[in-house]
Amino acid sequence: MAFTRILLLAFTLLFTTQTLTAQVLTSKSYGNGIVVSADYHASEIGKQILQQGGNAVDAAVAVQFALAVTLPRAGNIGGGGFMVVHLADGETNTLDFREKAPERATRNMYVRNGEFKSDLSWEGILAVGVPGTVDGMVKAIERYGRMPLDMVIQPAIKLAREGYTLSYTQAQDLNNHKDTFKKYQASARYFTTGDSTLFEEGDLFVQEDLAQTLERIARFGREGFYSGPVADAIVNEMSRYRGLISYRDLRNYESVWREPIVADFLGYKLHIMPPPSSGSVAIAQILEMIDDYPLAEMGHNSAEYVHVVSEAMRRAFADRSYYLGDPDFIDIPMEELLSEEYNNDRMASFSADQATTSESLEHGEITGFLESSETTHFSIVDKDGNAVSVTTTLNGSFGSHVSVSGAGFLLNNEMDDFSAQPGEPNAYGLIGAEANAIEPGKRMLSSMSPTIVTRDGKVDMVLGAAGGPRIITATLQSFLNKAVFGMRSQQATAQPRFHHQWLPDMIFFDDFGLSPDTQQALEERGHRLFPMPGIGRAHNIYVDQNGDLNSGVDPRGDGHASGY
Ligand code: GLY
Repeated sequence: MAFTRILLLAFTLLFTTQTLTAQVLTSKSYGNGIVVSADYHASEIGKQILQQGGNAVDAAVAVQFALAVTLPRAGNIGGGGFMVVHLADGETNTLDFREKAPERATRNMYVRNGEFKSDLSWEGILAVGVPGTVDGMVKAIERYGRMPLDMVIQPAIKLAREGYTLSYTQAQDLNNHKDTFKKYQASARYFTTGDSTLFEEGDLFVQEDLAQTLERIARFGREGFYSGPVADAIVNEMSRYRGLISYRDLRNYESVWREPIVADFLGYKLHIMPPPSSGSVAIAQILEMIDDYPLAEMGHNSAEYVHVVSEAMRRAFADRSYYLGDPDFIDIPMEELLSEEYNNDRMASFSADQATTSESLEHGEITGFLESSETTHFSIVDKDGNAVSVTTTLNGSFGSHVSVSGAGFLLNNEMDDFSAQPGEPNAYGLIGAEANAIEPGKRMLSSMSPTIVTRDGKVDMVLGAAGGPRIITATLQSFLNKAVFGMRSQQATAQPRFHHQWLPDMIFFDDFGLSPDTQQALEERGHRLFPMPGIGRAHNIYVDQNGDLNSGVDPRGDGHASGY
């Protein structure tokens, strides 16, 4: 069973992520402002907003809307995400614009004849959560921006209306999903050529309906999306395919400001998105579990290092599935999970010579195993030292694949991030995941882990990644590569990474990383190893002591750094 799922995962990853490309990236350094995102146009737009006097939040809102145009597989207005803001005056805040389950959602809505039907939560109208992005962007700019909303959306409107030329990857992404788009009227119109031909690199991609929707948002703010013609179009789409989202769901959607989780490590302070992001708790736990070990002496990606960090990952992921969910619905024992005593206790069973078996660790279940690798992350620092870290998603590549007819955008499939069938034993015979069970109005647990790291009160790193549960371990390693091993930005981001998520009981590693000797030494300790094409895709910024802003663009994708 487990092996079949692993093959399925490998297959999914091969066809939904970009693998390591041949591009050789060198770090770029800027003095004033920098934007690192998954897409050239979006990074350039963010830079222009900074140059026009906007701050990092203005630029972030512009980038989010630009990605909705140029990266339809993950950038969105029909999805959600998380934002971490750190202002130069020391204020840090986080914004949760994660989707919510519609009011008519029920605990077992994907169970038929006692069996969980994963196709229903993955593709089509029932997979859609109430979108949060537009409310989030409006709230962010109202609270922290300097520019009016309509000004920062203009570049995205122009790109949608006038079009942009598809890159090779963008054309392939669309073509790879053609058969699924064809099942949904509006998606067939928006995201296929409309005949038997395929998109090609260099084709002009125009999205007039999306331009009009963005114009409504520019003019009316959140009302331009959650009421009026766009809301009508969303509800009509629900009627067409028998979906659940109502006018009331749209009207009631609210993004939420939340206190970040703060973790201390080697003089650095990590400010991380709190639940419903699971990444914050997991990263903080892992750091607490490994901080007594001589990591630098072990050597980067040595067998000893991979062993101890993987064992900490294993333990944190076991806790993640059991304890974490939407904090507005469940009580998370946060103080205990983050305490030194608890995490030391979790590592009491650690052996330097032998892998712990996941079977012997309590808690958790495998809902995260097949989490999508899609999602996108961007990082921004402005000339005043304000920083923003945003991870945003439709969940799977192109989300539910259902587009809103007349409004030009795709809807998410975020409902798949809830626990599949809580209370029932999973493939491993474990019962858990109650914390992340579906409830009306609840947010689904996420792995997205936007993070801002400060040192002596100043921004030192802006971190984050795409990649399902691998977001957590990729972000952790982007941090450790600088904090422990003193790597420069591009090196820290490009290094081979590894990932353990408790179940399945194995270390996944970048298929271009980990030497044969290291693999052998890990196997001798009892680890099973599984090479994968890309453990996360990170878009990081690292700040030098002299204030230089350095890009960390992941060579596993098509990301781009723009600065001045
Ligand atoms: N849908 C990916 C995540 O939220 O982690």
